[in-house]
Amino acid sequence: MSRSPRDPLRNERIAAESDPAADEGGPKLSRRSFLKGAGAAAAVAGLLGVKPAAAGGAEPEPPIAGTAERLGPGPVNFNLRVNGATRTVTAEPRVTLLGVLRDHLGLTGTKLVCDRGACGACTVHLDGAPVTSCMMLAIDARNHEITTIEGLGAPDRMNALQNAFVAKDALQCGFCTPGMTMALSAALGGNPNPSPAEIKRAIAGNICRCGTYPHVIEAALAAAKASRSRA
Ligand code: FES
Ligand code: FES
Repeated sequence: MSRSPRDPLRNERIAAESDPAADEGGPKLSRRSFLKGAGAAAAVAGLLGVKPAAAGGAEPEPPIAGTAERLGPGPVNFNLRVNGATRTVTAEPRVTLLGVLRDHLGLTGTKLVCDRGACGACTVHLDGAPVTSCMMLAIDARNHEITTIEGLGAPDRMNALQNAFVAKDALQCGFCTPGMTMALSAALGGNPNPSPAEIKRAIAGNICRCGTYPHVIEAALAAAKASRSRA
């Protein structure tokens, strides 16, 4: 069973895994400390490996050997792998993955609701596992495969889970639905025959104000069954 997107330590672990200094016994930069540091315009180039965005097209000056390169608070350029494609982003280091997906890449299927890791509406996959994208810096998502709801399917080619949501009437306002779908998609990927209890656990971090939970569970069971019958 995949982790719940509300796992409070998961995003921190991903950030630490993305930190090359961690492999070298160097100083670790937690997401929290990075957020503080980004506001003060300080981060280490070797630590992050990104280029400051050139203002007015001018190339930024290279860092002096042996010194730290300052990043931010202005925009920097970096690449993200999103839905199977490499996307180049120019964003301030403080911008969350959710902010980049929605505001820079136009992937508005991922929803902003609480902006504090409490509701699951912003759930995306990072290397197949669900994470709350409002709780992760975009820069920490480099070197990971990111999948958003747009990467699962489209209205004219929905996957089994998306079809099941429609067939089982598992949404009302639909605002929680992309996050629910991403959380369940990750869970079904690791467990093709889940019990209702396992499905409930998979969406434990996803809040639906409309109260569609019984239909969501029905949809997940139906999608799992459909996928098993095709296998
Ligand atoms: S918007 Fe990210 S958890 Fe609510
Ligand atoms: S369908 Fe409205 S919040 Fe879930």
